[in-house]
Amino acid sequence: MAIREIIVLPDKQLRLISKPVETVNTEIRQLADDMLETMYDAPGIGLAAIQVAIPLRMVTMDLAKREKEGEEVKPQPRVFINPEILASSEDLSVYEEGCLSIPEYYEEVERPARVRVRFLDLDGKVHEEDAEGLYATCIQHEIDHLNGVLFVDYLSKLKRDRVIKKFAKAARLAAK
Ligand code: NI
Repeated sequence: MAIREIIVLPDKQLRLISKPVETVNTEIRQLADDMLETMYDAPGIGLAAIQVAIPLRMVTMDLAKREKEGEEVKPQPRVFINPEILASSEDLSVYEEGCLSIPEYYEEVERPARVRVRFLDLDGKVHEEDAEGLYATCIQHEIDHLNGVLFVDYLSKLKRDRVIKKFAKAARLAAK
């Protein structure tokens, strides 16, 4: 396993449309391991392959919650290959979202409260699940990444422009 570099705004690769995984082979399982390690190291609860500059339709996630500060949490790593939303509820829910590719920026986003999702596991087996709560929000956020969409795209133009400008400026300063 290896920790990979997470790309951040304004990296244009974040706007790519990722390609489906054709075969779940050793290389894909290796990438899943690396994505999980990178996600835990960050730390974050979800990561799309494009965030480590691999334009494939793959997502890792771990929503295991800590009840008390400092308490040991049993990891619940999940891998979604070629995930897709089959249906979305009409009712919406709001979560404060963040993104490892837009560090230290959080804003509330409204999305369908429940979705039905289909994906392949690391054995190439098809699964369908109903997601709600944080799971529903997180899988929608990650699938957006596979389509080149970022959570800031749901904000007002004013807010979006402000954060995009801020990261562009930070990149210019870092390049000097
Ligand atoms: Ni993200």
